[in-house]
Amino acid sequence: MASIKFLGHSCFLIDDGKNNRILIDPFLSGNPLAGASPKDLNPTLILLTHGHGDHLGDAIEISKRTGVEIMGVFELVNYCISKGAKGHPAHMGGKIPYDFGWVKLVPAFHSSSAPDGTFTGNPVGFVINFHGHHIYHAGDTGIFGDMELISRLHGVDTALLPIGGTFTMDIPEAVEAVRMLQCKTVIPMHYNTFPPIEADAEEFKEKVESGSDTKVVILESGESYNIPEHIKAHS
Ligand code: NI
Ligand code: MN
Repeated sequence: MASIKFLGHSCFLIDDGKNNRILIDPFLSGNPLAGASPKDLNPTLILLTHGHGDHLGDAIEISKRTGVEIMGVFELVNYCISKGAKGHPAHMGGKIPYDFGWVKLVPAFHSSSAPDGTFTGNPVGFVINFHGHHIYHAGDTGIFGDMELISRLHGVDTALLPIGGTFTMDIPEAVEAVRMLQCKTVIPMHYNTFPPIEADAEEFKEKVESGSDTKVVILESGESYNIPEHIKAHS
């Protein structure tokens, strides 16, 4: 069964239980709420939304140990390659095919630099077609109207949205984002890791579910959401 495992902050492992394990934004070392140790992860693909330390995290080390490619924006991936990682540079508009389907790079309203200050291009979000189930990882972003376009073009089943504020959308913006995305399920992320991004996920759940048919799934770090077979509707 395919699942989406939350590993804390914005890190997720999307796993089909077979040959595909997509690791997104693996900020584990130094994360007080990390749901796994980087040495225990064996992904088949690493996706990075941007270069900030709480997203780049352990990606380079995991790529070097496993030989797995990091896919993301040109400047960020070339930075990772310069540090010894394997990489697949791409950019917004690109739809990269994989065994499980494809990954599309979509805009995010934020910035992107590595912890050493190197410019790492534009930040992005990803729409992942995982065996027909469309997952939108928004990355770090404020709200923007083209989330509606992302939904119209790609159809989003499950959205992973930041709710912590300060650096990203807060709860009221994320509630509005859900209205635009019209997704079936939303999993909140990027909150409670540090004091400036404290947010009440239960409040988010209550606000989304009282005004729409979207279900909010709150995951503790280390918990998984099993992708229901019956909502694998896309191709
Ligand atoms: Ni950031
Ligand atoms: Mn962040």
